[in-house]
Amino acid sequence: MSLPDVLRSPLTLPVVASPMFIASGPELVKAQCQAGVIGSFPALNARPAALLDDWLHDIRESNAKHAEANPGAVVAPFAVNQIVHKSNDRLDADMELVVKHQVPIVITSLGARPEINDAVHSYGGIVLHDIINDRFAHKAIEKGADGLIAVAAGAGGHAGTQSPLALLQEIRAWFDGPLLLSGAIAHGRSILAALAAGADFAYVGSAFLATHEANVVDGYKDMIVDSSAADIVYSNLFTGVHGNYLRGSIEAAGLDPVALPESDPSAMSFGTDDSKAWRDIWGSGQGVGAVEGVVSAADLVARLRAEFDAAKAELTAKLA
Ligand SMILES: Cc1cc2nc3c(=O)[nH]c(=O)nc-3n(C[C@H](O)[C@H](O)[C@H](O)COP(=O)(O)O)c2cc1C
Repeated sequence: MSLPDVLRSPLTLPVVASPMFIASGPELVKAQCQAGVIGSFPALNARPAALLDDWLHDIRESNAKHAEANPGAVVAPFAVNQIVHKSNDRLDADMELVVKHQVPIVITSLGARPEINDAVHSYGGIVLHDIINDRFAHKAIEKGADGLIAVAAGAGGHAGTQSPLALLQEIRAWFDGPLLLSGAIAHGRSILAALAAGADFAYVGSAFLATHEANVVDGYKDMIVDSSAADIVYSNLFTGVHGNYLRGSIEAAGLDPVALPESDPSAMSFGTDDSKAWRDIWGSGQGVGAVEGVVSAADLVARLRAEFDAAKAELTAKLA
């Protein structure tokens, strides 16, 4: 199956920059799109909710102006993430703005709902739904999502436990639509690996935390730079859903990272004012060993592109 038109837009790299709670705002999304990768942000990051209208306007206008001023530039489309969990008390209002602005790509997490997919399809948008196993992948497509984001072990924020190879293999056995791979992708070589394993795009989050445009404190950016896979802790304590976090931030909060209690999943809450956990306990995927400094999003995309090209050449030589 060929990709929908919006996913066939010219890009610098086959990358969707993943939405990150608190961290991804208009500055980061514009920088990502203007560097030629699909940028995204969670609608919940616009607080108060009315700000979402301004953000959507700003991103569209800035990207259009950039394209006009730089005729040769690759300017990628953008996506908005909706947390489709019953505790999200803003979902209906945020969806109205998504429809008003005809957001080209909507990323849905923590729940698949046909009426959300229908609303996005009403103006020609597409929905990518994130899943952590093949059973949820089937459900998402049955409910009308257009594509899947396979969130494998090692992803920043809420993450699965399955090997990326196993997850993609099972999904590709029955699904030939748009498929993205999420989890620990922070090097150009890993983007190529995602494509080789069956994905159409790599979904990259944590590496963008160490950029000037990310809306997080400097201490968080520095900890991303200083950390590697061994510093990532998997726990469901902070939101009720299992996710990956920086050991240093857990210690700084006075907790013992190797003796964290289990959380009650009914404590899950993603509504208007649930940002505290993410402000103090910092999410990160296992790929951050590749991050060696805080740079602009454009420089990060340039690094990934150079690594991707080098990996392609290396692989071609290996296979010759
Ligand atoms: C700090 C942080 C916050 C995140 N917040 C969200 C979110 O609000 N919505 C969402 O769908 N995914 C969220 N994610 C998960 C990402 O969308 C994606 O699956 C992940 O970043 C990919 O793995 P990587 O970080 O190893 O690249 C978050 C990830 C991080 C690191």
